[in-house]
Amino acid sequence: MYSEHLDLTTLNELLVTKRIGRASIPNEIWSKIDSTNNRALELAAQGAPHGLVIGARQQTAGRGRQGKSWVSPLDAGLYISFLLRPQIELTQIPLISLATGAAVARALRSACGIEVGLKWVNDIVYDRRKLGGILAEMPNKNTLVIGIGINLRNVQEQMPSELQVRSVCVEEIVGMPVSANSVAANVILELEQAYTLLEAGEKTKIIELWKTHAVTLGQEIRAAVGNEVIEGLAKDIATDGSLILQTLSGDRRLHAGEISIRRTDGSYA
Ligand code: BTN
Repeated sequence: MYSEHLDLTTLNELLVTKRIGRASIPNEIWSKIDSTNNRALELAAQGAPHGLVIGARQQTAGRGRQGKSWVSPLDAGLYISFLLRPQIELTQIPLISLATGAAVARALRSACGIEVGLKWVNDIVYDRRKLGGILAEMPNKNTLVIGIGINLRNVQEQMPSELQVRSVCVEEIVGMPVSANSVAANVILELEQAYTLLEAGEKTKIIELWKTHAVTLGQEIRAAVGNEVIEGLAKDIATDGSLILQTLSGDRRLHAGEISIRRTDGSYA
């Protein structure tokens, strides 16, 4: 087995989906691009259809949530974006993050045999270290771009040192090379299945799927919401996808934001 990089022919051969990855215009895999989310948004503005997949072997301006950058060296990760034209109720859109997280966790199980954790709202973690993330963007009600970044292999010399200690990659976990195409094809399949559940209004099923992999629930957490810092016990996920926090002043619901989980020494990470 060798570390196979993302390429269009191999990925298309592995696809078994009906809609995602099967748009009426070709999927794109770039050797190098600024950001696959940017490209998907650009094509969306030109009227590109539901299901288009844009991937890259390297991103020069990969974007993370909250304005952070997503360091994307050549072949070190899976960098992939999906253009969806939502036909779902707007109230279900927040659930798409949870659906995508669950899809990534299931894909990593089937492609690589690993059990990863999901940290609300959409961090993919392993042993408290970050393995991947999801950036969902909705410039208008007909356009949803979901970008997924998964660390596949170590290219430590190209990673900032603070990222090296807090992050982990799939090959480090499985102890052998992995194929980016196989991970991508499994992500696409699981995403299609999760999205089909959403379209059918199966909110509870999506939440249950997400909870199977959740590392947040039952933990003391700290959340930054605007200028406010909220601490409490992460109790449950509400049907709209928000996180229910039990705080000293009663239950609070978090709809977005960054959370840290309390460690046994009292610090938060
Ligand atoms: C996060 O902050 O955790 C989300 C990271 C999302 C990164 C992916 S890589 C593919 C897509 N293109 C981007 O520019 N960002 C997303």
